[in-house]
Amino acid sequence: MQLNINGKIVQLAGVSPATPLLYVLRNDLKLNGPKYGCGLGECGACTVLVDGVAMRSCSAPVSTLENKAIVTLEGLSSGESLHPVQQGFVDEQAAQCGYCTNGMIMTLVALFRRSPQASEEDIKKALAFNLCRCGTHVEILRAAQKAKAILAAGGEA
Ligand code: FES
Repeated sequence: MQLNINGKIVQLAGVSPATPLLYVLRNDLKLNGPKYGCGLGECGACTVLVDGVAMRSCSAPVSTLENKAIVTLEGLSSGESLHPVQQGFVDEQAAQCGYCTNGMIMTLVALFRRSPQASEEDIKKALAFNLCRCGTHVEILRAAQKAKAILAAGGEA
């Protein structure tokens, strides 16, 4: 089996087809941006992009992902240059424990790709099922607005 992850073809040997993508990313490929939270598809900590759409990697068997473009948090930046959504989180200091940050960022990247002019309401709806136990929501919403502004100014999506 092979997967396309962050623009590279990765061969998977000895991995059961039913293995959730998250386990392969973290355990086999050492891509630790996506986090294990609930393991049930409910918290959003494990979110990745699959063909540009936000997907919960804890409940996606690897066998369903061949021939799809998977992007993890690690695949967003370009060298030293952060993705505008990552930059927004840094600028607005939108993390406390940081466990939800991966899911928040990946969900926003997907949102701004399909809807660059997303409203505050759209942003809140998109993030509604990404859980944050620290209560950093105000900073996260500010980070989303900052990212939108960077993108509008020509930042790369
Ligand atoms: Fe995947 Fe919670 S760990 S949604």
